Amino acid sequence: MYKLPLLNPIRQLNAIAVLTSGGDSPGMNPAIRAVVRTALHAGIRVYGIQRGYSGLIIGDMEEMKSSDVSNIVQRGGTLLKSDRCKAFREPLVRKQAAAILQEKGIDALVVIGGDGSLTGAHLLATEHNIPVIGLPGTIDNDIYGTDDTIGFDTAVATALEAIDRIRDTALSHDSLFLVEVMGRNSGFIATQVGLACGAEMIVVPDFDTQVENICFQLAADHAAGRGSSGIIVVAEGQQAGLTYKLARQLESHGQKAKVCILGHIQRGGSPSGHDRVLASCLGTAAVSALRNGETDRMVGVSNGEMVTVPLEHVVNRNKPLNPQMVELVNILHR
Ligand code: F6P
Repeated sequence: MYKLPLLNPIRQLNAIAVLTSGGDSPGMNPAIRAVVRTALHAGIRVYGIQRGYSGLIIGDMEEMKSSDVSNIVQRGGTLLKSDRCKAFREPLVRKQAAAILQEKGIDALVVIGGDGSLTGAHLLATEHNIPVIGLPGTIDNDIYGTDDTIGFDTAVATALEAIDRIRDTALSHDSLFLVEVMGRNSGFIATQVGLACGAEMIVVPDFDTQVENICFQLAADHAAGRGSSGIIVVAEGQQAGLTYKLARQLESHGQKAKVCILGHIQRGGSPSGHDRVLASCLGTAAVSALRNGETDRMVGVSNGEMVTVPLEHVVNRNKPLNPQMVELVNILHR
């Protein structure tokens, strides 16, 4: 349960728009539903923009009714579709987007997405004075200023389900597996998954890991009679193929490991109860923030409370991974 922000409406809104942008995440649909129904409840019209900023810049949007968001609370993906829109990095394109919103009589925008999407939201708000509120929607949980992001909990559960199965075959064959989870710039998924699946080790981009250290740990485990099967959870990192590279390096040190890449299955599937509640509360809090006169802010979670944080403090900042959690994986495994 979350503590919702107080409603103190000072901004008159006739119409708002909502879009989802960047990599989709399970829970975007309940977030859209909450934005649409909270706004309609307050007498505000809502437009759903297709394919994120790509749809915004060509005015691809439709007014939404309450029934348009029926039966989506349990569905993965995003009803509004999503895109990574490179063109939105251009100031002239953002100017065009602002003009389209004004032309259609849209007073404010809600953006659901990760760091790149929130950067676009921040630029639109500051350059064109459009009231904008962002929602953290990414499986990576790497958004500064919020403890949690929409989709993280589901992605972790999906990865865990797969890893528990891999563990069965690893034990049967005394095999070592490198299981790659998503996380280009951060190891939040890897750490959470590693802790929850009882991984032998985790490898994350946030901290340097030497192959020699992995081999040393594996040898120590073996000497202590902990068996020769194992799961090492690896965050994908920035370059494709890093996990295969690690397997080759391990092999050159005499350690054979099989590689399993979980990939995009982590982004799909029905959102968990946690993500549905989080997304619903964030969506409602976003509309309240707009009505309260706020702009250029993200709605996030801090210590169980819905808070709003200036987007300039959110974007392009690294949310630090708690090193104690990484250490805990090692302690609990031994
Ligand atoms: O940003 C979320 C994310 O799922 C990352 O974890 C992953 O690195 C990336 O998206 C993959 O994006 P794409 O589907 O565009 O390759």
